[in-house]
Amino acid sequence: MKVKSLCLSIILAALGLLWQGCANIETSNLYEGSLNPYANETKQEHNARMKWWREARFGMFIHWGVYSVPAGTYKGKQIDSIGEWIMYNGEIPVAEYKKYAKRFNPVKYNPDLWVRLAKEAGMKYIVITSKHHDGFALFDSKATDWGVVDATPYGKDLLKPLAKACKKYGIKLGFYYSQAQDWCHPGGAAMEKKQWDPAQAGDMDEYIRNIAAPQVREILTNYGHIAVLWWDTPCDMNKERADMLLPLLKLQPGIIINNRLCEDVYQGDFRTPEQDIPATGLDSDWETCMTMNETWGYKSYDNEWKSSKMLIRNLIDIASKGGNYLLNVGPTSEGEIPGPSIERLKAIGKWMKANGEAIYATTASPFVKLSWGRCTKKIGKEGATLYLHIFDWPVDGKLTVPGLRNRIKKARLLEGGKELRAGNTAEGVVINVPKQAPNAIASVIVLDVKGKLNVE
Ligand code: GLC
Repeated sequence: MKVKSLCLSIILAALGLLWQGCANIETSNLYEGSLNPYANETKQEHNARMKWWREARFGMFIHWGVYSVPAGTYKGKQIDSIGEWIMYNGEIPVAEYKKYAKRFNPVKYNPDLWVRLAKEAGMKYIVITSKHHDGFALFDSKATDWGVVDATPYGKDLLKPLAKACKKYGIKLGFYYSQAQDWCHPGGAAMEKKQWDPAQAGDMDEYIRNIAAPQVREILTNYGHIAVLWWDTPCDMNKERADMLLPLLKLQPGIIINNRLCEDVYQGDFRTPEQDIPATGLDSDWETCMTMNETWGYKSYDNEWKSSKMLIRNLIDIASKGGNYLLNVGPTSEGEIPGPSIERLKAIGKWMKANGEAIYATTASPFVKLSWGRCTKKIGKEGATLYLHIFDWPVDGKLTVPGLRNRIKKARLLEGGKELRAGNTAEGVVINVPKQAPNAIASVIVLDVKGKLNVE
């Protein structure tokens, strides 16, 4: 009897502790202790947190929102603006802009297909605009009725099924969130223009407190594991405002953030060159985000598509400089990724399927410049592997890797695996290559070398 009641009280006590623990997670004050959850992170902890992101190298950016309804045209005029900035550049009044939501009905939205497209392109993560500068939420937000659930005929959360599909296919999910600019909620910032409609007037601190912070809490709570939070355009941000948002990161242990929260105060985990590949990379983690045509958000008449070849070479170029590539798609208001984007994703996927080994988990080139292309590398215990990405195939059947002094273990074509003869010369390593380039966009030669890398 005694033993029984002892057991029972132990069980009850344990349950009580468990319950308390759960309740603590729910109600714990995120603002206690250091505001920046990573303030005391060691270098090892930091590297462990960044590991998947550094190895991924390639992700999909999705800019989607109500702006896909006007799709670049306002009052019959093509507005000189990227698609998602039409409200700002067309100075569209808030009430008028909000009417577009009535026509935002993405009945063709198929998140399963989107995620498969990303995965087949070789992308390892997706970052989607949960809320862009127009303040429109793609998710079910209790903080406002300016979002897909309350303001559109579609009426359903768009991020939930995307999160589900990402989980299903093993793709990491990140959220873009415009924390400072918000042209529809009073008090939100609006770059240089400040405001063009009295309805925008308001206090920015209040806006952060009542809209941005609750929404960031929502997106970090209701969608399972969130791998990245991608802030944007920190105009009028300051430490006090950032400090209302930063502690919310504790809701997603391990989350990675970019540098656009309030860069003067918080540098974030990676830098974000936009539409640009830094000439020699950057001295910290970085990710180039880029459009396939000229707009992020859908614009019906933007046909300035980059070629698949250019996009693939960009990815290689970026990897060779130690960065990630976040390549954008801008779906339509019906929920479709434009055909030209799909074509390009498929072409990239075809190249990646054969050559992904030369991109994922590689680090920057040890060479300053290579006349024929780019190089990525992996450092092993007893040597290194160099991946030579050849854009301009040598006409004389000899590829020189200038200044490389290591002895060669093995040289082979990545596609097909054909072994190649390679030897050390005064100029460096010379590889005998077939007459024809195996891949017209970029052919990869894998060079396994002995010992510590030695490049002159
Ligand atoms: C910008 C733009 C924006 C886009 C972003 C992507 O800063 O304001 O529309 O979302 O860049 O990097």
